[in-house]
Amino acid sequence: MAQRTKMARYAWAVLLVTVLAVAGGYAWVAWSKGGPGEGLYSRLWQPDKVFGYWNPVRFYGYDGPMSGRYEGPQCVECHQALTPGIVADWRASGHAAPKGGKPVYCDSCHGKDHARLHLPDPAVCGGCHAERHAQFQDERRFGFPSHALAIERAVDAKHFVDKPKAEVTACLQCHSVASKCDSCHTRHRFSAAEARRPEACITCHSGPPHPDDETFFASAHGKRYLAEGDQWDWKKPLTKGNYKAPTCAYCHMRNGKHQVADKTIWKFGLQEVNPRTSGNEVRRKQWVDVCSDCHDAAWSRQQLEAMDAERKRAWTKLYAAEHTLKDLRGDKLLQPTAGERPPYPLDKPGALFARERIGYFDGQSSAFYNVSPIERDYFEMWYFDNLGAYKGAAHGAPDAVAHGHRKMETALENIKQKAQTLRQQGKPPAAGPWWVEGEYTGHNKEHN
Ligand code: HEC
Ligand code: HEC
Ligand code: HEC
Ligand code: HEC
Ligand code: HEC
Ligand code: HEC
Ligand code: HEC
Ligand code: HEC
Repeated sequence: MAQRTKMARYAWAVLLVTVLAVAGGYAWVAWSKGGPGEGLYSRLWQPDKVFGYWNPVRFYGYDGPMSGRYEGPQCVECHQALTPGIVADWRASGHAAPKGGKPVYCDSCHGKDHARLHLPDPAVCGGCHAERHAQFQDERRFGFPSHALAIERAVDAKHFVDKPKAEVTACLQCHSVASKCDSCHTRHRFSAAEARRPEACITCHSGPPHPDDETFFASAHGKRYLAEGDQWDWKKPLTKGNYKAPTCAYCHMRNGKHQVADKTIWKFGLQEVNPRTSGNEVRRKQWVDVCSDCHDAAWSRQQLEAMDAERKRAWTKLYAAEHTLKDLRGDKLLQPTAGERPPYPLDKPGALFARERIGYFDGQSSAFYNVSPIERDYFEMWYFDNLGAYKGAAHGAPDAVAHGHRKMETALENIKQKAQTLRQQGKPPAAGPWWVEGEYTGHNKEHN
């Protein structure tokens, strides 16, 4: 009996501690988000003025000299002289002369009161385009990476605050795809035809970590687009029979559905996945359906399975490199050690329980910098060579696949050789004060 009471008391204590810990966790997150910036590290950075255009709801406030309330035609009249390009684009858009409706004037998106102008976020567009807006927001349920979650993903990334501001300001320019609707159909034309073309995507989807631009234009599809695209009728929606070769939006926004994350299996390409889980089989079927608009279904499935095979080969190489690094770590041959590396901002628990960060720990931020040269070699292999090969396989650019694998082989060879040298030396070269004290981090505390 006494035993039981003791147990009950013990259970209560555990419950109480758990509740307090959870409440404390929530309070900590809420406090972290209460700063001048945005997201988990909002207390550690200040938004520049231009951030108001990338995430208007969070950061925009009109502070120009104009005031007064105006009706739509008055906005157009004054801005005709002031910003003729904007007015010309607006006049040429579906908003100036909707079929059978009244014009959607400037004030529908910006408000009538000039002293309190606002810039439209997706919800403002959603007031008239409810279905597209709902699709866009619903994408959140697929998790990262996705357009709807892109701002959170960027500002909550540890390296966003850990690197100097000059290096990270542009993050939000691309990641603003979440916070405004003029990424693919640019203002003030707001043209669906423009959004259907690949150029609408490659402002953001290009460069070494995500070479969608480069691999698409090197594919049979991209070639066909370059050869004939100018003669196609881009007013037609992206449905079966309307286009001879597919563009980015044709494949990733099937039938114009405003979501890009619903079919993704390999995602960004940073982790190995099992393409054969039941969920992924469903996604694969959706992909085969896309290809089947133009190709034989069984043939299409084989093309997609060839990508899985390419991924398997890539991960064999990547794991071999990770294995070499983990062995070096185990033998204390890497400097700085995890404990010596400056912790990420606000990452106090991370500093207490310093973890080895080889491979996918905190997403790609684990391996960016403040690491030893051999670890940086692995980062480049994983983040650039690997991702180049992946996008080559996904988009049908065989040369990019061959190039990526050649580079991964060279990197692996190089890592193995450097590991051997470190072992021969028996002791790692001392990490300079730059690594250990983290001047990079110290500098940022002052300047972010
Ligand atoms: C009498 C002239 C005039 C009228 C009428 C007028 N504007 Fe402006 N507007 C300006 C001037 C001048 C600027 C640029 C100066 C500034 O604010 O920085 C401007 C700037 C803007 C900007 C840019 C703000 C920014 O921070 O980048 C927007 C958006 C805008 N106007 C929308 C409107 C809308 C909507 C209306 C109608 C409700 C309107 N304007 C009516 C003169 C006018
Ligand atoms: C369908 C909605 C919509 C309408 C209608 C509209 N705008 Fe805009 N406007 C936008 C969006 C979206 C932005 C970009 C906001 C951002 O950067 O976050 C913008 C930005 C602006 C800017 C500042 C950035 C720049 O490119 O200079 C000005 C000035 C402006 N609009 C003026 C006008 C005027 C004048 C009209 C009417 C002729 C008008 N807008 C009609 C949606 C609209
Ligand atoms: C006040 C209502 C209203 C608001 C707000 C509004 N739109 Fe529209 N939009 C319309 C109407 C009406 C049309 C024309 C439909 C037609 O002609 O069939 C249209 C057409 C469009 C088109 C199709 C153009 C084409 O090439 O076929 C796009 C894209 C578009 N809007 C995007 C946006 C975006 C993005 C926003 C927010 C920045 C926005 N709209 C805000 C009413 C609105
Ligand atoms: C303004 C920049 C921008 C434009 C324009 C843009 N995207 Fe994106 N896109 C992003 C960002 C940023 C992410 C990653 C978001 C995240 O980190 O969660 C992304 C994510 C994606 C993903 C999901 C990636 C995954 O791994 O699941 C796909 C697919 C995609 N975009 C396709 C497109 C297509 C197709 C277009 C053109 C029709 C396009 N995007 C236009 C910025 C953009
Ligand atoms: C040129 C446009 C561009 C810039 C600049 C950019 N990103 Fe991205 N980012 C993307 C695109 C596109 C994707 C999605 C790629 C894919 O899925 O293939 C992405 C994906 C991501 C992801 C998702 C990775 C994951 O595993 O979910 C994170 C995190 C991220 N970016 C953070 C950042 C940070 C932080 C910065 C600034 C240092 C930044 N991005 C700068 C376009 C950009
Ligand atoms: C990733 C690129 C991308 C983004 C971001 C985007 N759109 Fe679109 N939008 C497209 C494409 C592609 C089409 C053409 C669809 C088709 O052919 O069926 C389109 C067409 C439209 C149309 C024309 C009519 C229709 O329904 O097809 C409207 C309205 C529209 N978008 C509204 C929005 C709104 C509102 C947002 C923000 C919530 C938004 N778009 C964000 C790519 C985009
Ligand atoms: C023929 C259809 C097709 C075209 C055209 C196409 N893609 Fe892809 N894309 C794919 C496939 C298939 C994958 C791999 C999907 C998977 O299994 O994860 C992929 C992967 C991606 C990814 C990684 C996220 C994901 O969904 O796995 C991004 C981002 C992306 N493509 C963007 C683009 C952009 C931007 C363009 C145009 C420059 C483009 N794609 C053109 C079919 C296409
Ligand atoms: C809108 C039509 C269309 C869609 C959708 C489409 N393709 Fe294609 N594809 C073509 C055309 C046209 C060619 C060039 C002529 C040919 O080889 O048939 C081509 C060529 C190819 C090639 C090169 C063939 C070779 O022998 O070199 C591959 C691989 C390919 N497509 C894969 C895919 C995959 C995988 C998908 C789906 C993710 C897909 N395609 C979706 C139209 C399409």
